[in-house]
Amino acid sequence: MMQGRFISLEGMDGAGKSTHLAWLADYLRDCGIDFVMTREPGGTPLAETLRALLLQQDMTAETETLLMFAARREHVVSVIEPALQRGQWVISDRFADASFAYQGGGRGMPFAMLEALEEFTVKSCKPDLTLLFDVPWEVSRQRLHAGRQQNGAVQLDRFEQEAQSFFDRVREAYHTRAQQSQGRMQVIDAARSVAEIQQDLRVLMDRFCA
Ligand SMILES: Nc1ncnc2c1ncn2[C@@H]1O[C@H](COP(=O)(O)OP(=O)(O)O)[C@@H](O)[C@H]1O
Ligand SMILES: [Mg+2]
Repeated sequence: MMQGRFISLEGMDGAGKSTHLAWLADYLRDCGIDFVMTREPGGTPLAETLRALLLQQDMTAETETLLMFAARREHVVSVIEPALQRGQWVISDRFADASFAYQGGGRGMPFAMLEALEEFTVKSCKPDLTLLFDVPWEVSRQRLHAGRQQNGAVQLDRFEQEAQSFFDRVREAYHTRAQQSQGRMQVIDAARSVAEIQQDLRVLMDRFCA
């Protein structure tokens, strides 16, 4: 059986990952492609427990980094690899690039350390395609607040509470990672309208699926 393909979605909160994940699911369904949809941190019961800690508990940057990769290891072994081996595609809301952006860019963890952890936990289970939804901090914040007001929720998680400078470093690290990705990561200007973005996504996905 053909091995499935692995697509990850990246970008800051409010960039539009969830919005475009839903579009991508419809697209794959229309193509008759069997897929599983998952997210990071999380995707398994243990990894979801780690997610809750990561989003709420104070901890050092080193601990945060190790817990992220611990959750990722569980996700790779119990969800992603088995699905790909069954021939299903996997679409994940965030994957290892997020650690280079948040723990690397945001928290200042050395990239060489993150590469070693990636090698230790992810090994060859890397995305075939990564869609990076790129927005300036102002846009991300504005959308986040608009969305929150609708839902009536007010509490920000540990990452959302960070200052603009943190997110500027996250965005820059995402860009660096994209430049080094040899075409795997596609940077999408996500400050545009949903319709404009989805036009680009269709072209991109038609090419990827061809
Ligand atoms: N291109 C866009 N233009 C305007 N609003 C958007 C756009 N993309 C997403 N949104 C809105 O912004 C909010 C955050 O989008 P979401 O898809 O949840 O982002 P993420 O999953 O990356 O945090 C949602 O209320 C969504 O409807
Ligand atoms: Mg989301």
